[in-house]
Amino acid sequence: MNTRHCARPTTGCCFFLLIALLPASAAYGTEAVLTRKPYLQMGTPDSIVIVWRTQGPSTPVVRWGRSTGDLQTAVDHSKVVTRVSPDHEGDIDLPRLSTAPANTFQYEARITGLSPATTYYYGVHDAQRQLSGGDETHHFATSPPAGQARPLRFWVVGDSGTGESDQARVHAAMIHYTTQSAHPLDLYLHVGDMVYPKGEDHHFQQRFFDVYEPTLRNTICWASMGNHEGATSKGLTGIGPYYDAYVLPAKAEAGGLASGTEAFYAVDYGRVHFICLDSHDLDRRPSGAMAKWLKADLEKTKADWLIAFWHHPPYSKGSHDSDTDSQMTEMRKHIMPILESAGVDLVLTGHSHIYERSMLMNRAYATPTVAENVILDDGDGNPEGDGAYRKSAGLNPNEGTIQIVAGHGGAGLGRKGTMPVMKKVIVEHGSVIVDINDDTLTAVMVDKNRETRDLFSIVKQGQVTPKPIDHPKQLPAYTPPPKAKR
Ligand SMILES: [Fe+2]
Repeated sequence: MNTRHCARPTTGCCFFLLIALLPASAAYGTEAVLTRKPYLQMGTPDSIVIVWRTQGPSTPVVRWGRSTGDLQTAVDHSKVVTRVSPDHEGDIDLPRLSTAPANTFQYEARITGLSPATTYYYGVHDAQRQLSGGDETHHFATSPPAGQARPLRFWVVGDSGTGESDQARVHAAMIHYTTQSAHPLDLYLHVGDMVYPKGEDHHFQQRFFDVYEPTLRNTICWASMGNHEGATSKGLTGIGPYYDAYVLPAKAEAGGLASGTEAFYAVDYGRVHFICLDSHDLDRRPSGAMAKWLKADLEKTKADWLIAFWHHPPYSKGSHDSDTDSQMTEMRKHIMPILESAGVDLVLTGHSHIYERSMLMNRAYATPTVAENVILDDGDGNPEGDGAYRKSAGLNPNEGTIQIVAGHGGAGLGRKGTMPVMKKVIVEHGSVIVDINDDTLTAVMVDKNRETRDLFSIVKQGQVTPKPIDHPKQLPAYTPPPKAKR
């Protein structure tokens, strides 16, 4: 894990006084340039972190308030974590980014003492000079307190990081959907592979931050690491461009049990408990630190909804096959039993470049995966079709999970076959928008053409007794088209 420090200038009190009054860039004779626009991280009921970068030093200040005309409260630069590019030759105490363009300064400003479930506006400054924000689009909302029911909408994207038009169209389709429904996002979950091909810092800028900037300025992205980020970032050390980009809760800052690492963590949002795991480069066995933490965390939660996300899907026959890929097989065999015994409702993954969505299922841990006796409801889950999936109120063991593979966020698509537990398989770019309102979860898949291609609900009321189906209805087998002769 990267260490983050609040950094103060250490080169003498006269210099300190000077830069307290002037933009640091002015003190150096050049004006700092904003190179990564501000984005939100680590939201809790009473705090948030705003991150941005400049090229050249600045005096970082965030001003915030309840309206754009009232950005009076400032986070002083001495309370901002400053991290610098490896080439930095100034203050040796400043923590380093693992890689970044020369003369880069990354600022991480934590605003504390906020009211829960409240919207604020903000702008970022170099001393008095505004760099970005201060308008209606730069805002953040604190989470509701853990345990308090509140409607939640979140966006799920995977395998997006090409920087090409399909990624942009998927983003635009989400904006269209949320605008049309007059219900903005509360959160954004990324299930990995947000930056092809190797998760490098300059590609993070071009293929993640530049593409999603209008969303990131007012929506927290909770991230999980994909194998492509894993080429340059390591879960074991918490070092690399992925860990530079995100400020994630190692110490239970956002709820749950402290994991001690940014590689896996928990987030509470009202009555919803989120779990993020690293399926790529950590020990996935029950004896490993991640599974042990997961079990201990889940024993503690009192949420009504449990949603887990990571990169490698336990069930898929998209561009990857979970019957043969060891990371996928291990997540199924080792991690799914822990989650299902804790009552998990939804598992969100990517890696396979396709949209696959399961029936309500439980205890499908065998290899190869079969549908017999692991499906609890073989309907489509659509309230206007076969009816919503039903579970008992609250979190109860083994009442059924919906698996969503959302690896269709922008990268080239692929399909190898039909995973028997799936209800919908769609080979088209898109993303998933999930709403949770009291006892009902509804998820839609919106494709890049702005069409809603799938919709299902889970309703959790009263007492439901799950019963596995001997021979559930299944999708027809799929045979990939023969490869063209060269
Ligand atoms: Fe992947």
